[in-house]
Amino acid sequence: MKVTVVGAGNVGATCADVLAHREIANEIVLLDIKPGFAEGKALDIWQTAPINLYDSRTVGSTNDYAATANSDVVVITSGLPRKPGMSRDDLIATNAGIVKSVTENIVKYSPDAIIVIVSNPLDVMTYCAFLAAKVDCKKVFGMAGILDTARYRAFIASELNCSPKDIQAVLMGGHGDTMVPLPRYTTVGGIPVTELISEEKLKSIVDRTKTGGGEIVNLLGTSAWYAPGAAAAQMVEAIVRDQKRIFPVCALLNGEYGMKDIYLGVPVKLGKNGIEEIIELKLNDSEKALLESSATSVKEVMGVLDSMNLF
Ligand code: LAC
Repeated sequence: MKVTVVGAGNVGATCADVLAHREIANEIVLLDIKPGFAEGKALDIWQTAPINLYDSRTVGSTNDYAATANSDVVVITSGLPRKPGMSRDDLIATNAGIVKSVTENIVKYSPDAIIVIVSNPLDVMTYCAFLAAKVDCKKVFGMAGILDTARYRAFIASELNCSPKDIQAVLMGGHGDTMVPLPRYTTVGGIPVTELISEEKLKSIVDRTKTGGGEIVNLLGTSAWYAPGAAAAQMVEAIVRDQKRIFPVCALLNGEYGMKDIYLGVPVKLGKNGIEEIIELKLNDSEKALLESSATSVKEVMGVLDSMNLF
């Protein structure tokens, strides 16, 4: 299997490192526009192979898309990250043009690849990549829900002093402060979380999850990378190993949840064909209202993309 990661910044390099270390792909190409940067990161990752005892090979390329030819999966992390005080949406002016041209180059050399978008503002950048790729929407989708549920699950594990492995959760909506964690669909070792954590405490965990990315931006002065990189690698693993895993993923809706022509986080089945099924949960009225309001804020940013006249 050949996997390309575009963007050798913190998120892209972490993703490539996880893909290599866990032998998710035997050939990994890291590509970046900055001269020598991807080559340097790839060489450093490859030199961990004798220590970490794996044989996946990571190579770097300075913007030569021929090196990415015939990739099975491509992860796009290109674009600027947030700085303190910025929302993800503030990045659209710079990142939309970048994501468009990267996607066009990728499709030129790997027309059958499955494309996973990580660039922000995530939902609208995924839509932008879909417009640029001109391929089936089942093969273009975005990584956000795995990251956001990981944050939510980590906070619950800390609160209960239990293993994060035992926490299962679903989260829907856009990758922004309007995301919708669903306590009703959260369990700890099969036990509904609502039986273990008070409503008030759960609300504060949900609120912390919604601004979980911003919490890290404020601490580091830039956005997170370990969890985003690992989350993208987990999606690649589900695809290349045809695992049929159920994850929240940013997917194009075509009538599901009563919405159309919008990319939004929903639970899906991920396998070798990309999104193999969108799962429609029965939401109650307040969950539905939260999802609609999240969709409204994603649509506002879609309006900004439209006004840029890139397509
Ligand atoms: C975050 C960025 C990657 O949530 O969107 O950390």
